[in-house]
Amino acid sequence: MIKDYRSNDQKTPGDIEPFTKIASTRRVEPPRTLITGASRGIGLCFCHEFAKRGHPLLLVALPEERLEQAALAISKKYDIPVDYIGIDLTADHAPQKVWEYCQDRGYIVDILINNAGIGFAKRFDKMSMDKNLSMIKLNSQAMVGLAHYFLPMLLKQTHAHIFFMSSMEATLALPYKSVYTSTKNFTYSFALALREELKKTKVNVHVGCPGPVLTNADGLKRIEAQGRKGRLLMKTPEEVAAYTVQKMEKNTVRIVPGRLNRFLLWVARHLPISFKMSILERMFRCFKDH
Ligand SMILES: NC(=O)c1ccc[n+]([C@@H]2O[C@H](COP(=O)([O-])OP(=O)(O)OC[C@H]3O[C@@H](n4cnc5c(N)ncnc54)[C@H](OP(=O)(O)O)[C@@H]3O)[C@@H](O)[C@H]2O)c1
Repeated sequence: MIKDYRSNDQKTPGDIEPFTKIASTRRVEPPRTLITGASRGIGLCFCHEFAKRGHPLLLVALPEERLEQAALAISKKYDIPVDYIGIDLTADHAPQKVWEYCQDRGYIVDILINNAGIGFAKRFDKMSMDKNLSMIKLNSQAMVGLAHYFLPMLLKQTHAHIFFMSSMEATLALPYKSVYTSTKNFTYSFALALREELKKTKVNVHVGCPGPVLTNADGLKRIEAQGRKGRLLMKTPEEVAAYTVQKMEKNTVRIVPGRLNRFLLWVARHLPISFKMSILERMFRCFKDH
């Protein structure tokens, strides 16, 4: 269960039980929720979800002005401590630097939201190696790095969570998105394996598998390229973040927003592989020269 750190006068009837230990004593800052890719898209919506629950935040994204603006706006709106680190998570030793930043300031992190990720679609022989590597580094390597550095701290907490953002596409090897879906498959398998390793600890591991989410302009282009079926599965980032946090509260392992999305994944599991791959190739051919 994810704690609700708001004081009683900030709550409305029906809210989750207050975390009395913090609420009833002098103001001791509760541990922080660290969210990567927090400056926009699903990550920014995660910030609002945890801020609503009174969690102090640490936002991580590229060192752009919008990160600082997001941190200031959230801190003002919810009256909670919010700090941010602008860092390129694909750079060497970036996860270690994020961890050192927390060590230097005495921040305790009890929820790690590994959300930052990028995706490019194109025929593999036309895709630049720089783009391939940036997907591998951000979507897989940085997530493992952050989990590695923060796990000892998470294990010391009375209750902790690590969330990994994968994708509905994780278990569907998609033609023309071969590297992206492989990075998401890596994250998916890593999260499930880690969950099992940590089963007897207080650290809960979750993996998110959303379908298309309307976030950036590039994503919109990709959703539109898929026509009606892309729009049927589409969710807003607000819906995805709200659903995911609710499911984390219920300790759900694999979080797939959308009934139709869950149904399609179930169907896909039961199709013969060569038949499934040829359907997927036809469905995703529109990304060939994207
Ligand atoms: N959108 C979808 O359809 C969809 C579907 C399934 C899964 N997902 C996954 O959900 C996650 C979030 O997607 P989104 O669509 O919300 O993304 P988005 O709107 O493109 O935002 C990406 C976030 O990651 C940050 N970021 C990008 N490169 C970074 C880097 N090298 N180092 C540090 N931060 C970096 C961005 O910072 P700046 O603002 O500074 O660029 C931004 O905060 C990703 O893992 C994605 O793969 C998305």
